Amino acid sequence: MAEATIRDVAREAQLSVASVSRALNGHKSVRPETRARIVAVADRLGYVPHAGARSLSMARSNAIVNVDAGVSILEALRARGCRVPSSCESGTCGTCRTRLLEGDADHRDLVLNEGERADHIMICVSRAKSPELVLDL
Ligand code: FES
Repeated sequence: MAEATIRDVAREAQLSVASVSRALNGHKSVRPETRARIVAVADRLGYVPHAGARSLSMARSNAIVNVDAGVSILEALRARGCRVPSSCESGTCGTCRTRLLEGDADHRDLVLNEGERADHIMICVSRAKSPELVLDL
């Protein structure tokens, strides 16, 4: 049997992928009873987040994209056929600025200030520190 994914957990729990991600990442906006239900479903399905691969959840399109080591978020999105604006692809112009809804980013750009980094990411150069990022895409 194939390994369970976060999408499987979301389908079984009848919730969005973003909601499952928030619950499993301990976000305060998730009610304890909802989190308990999601954890129970994840346990029942044997869902284990990948430690090696970084996963992107795209909240608006409800899609999941894995980002392998050595590949930028922008490249991973393009490989999946997502069209995302970019220009410099070196973290200096601001074109690829994307809202970050969940997760911990490793910011490597030269554009965003500390305040902006709380909820935005430059996807051409920045990476994920947490197992999953949820982007407003
Ligand atoms: S494309 Fe210029 S900062 Fe990302």
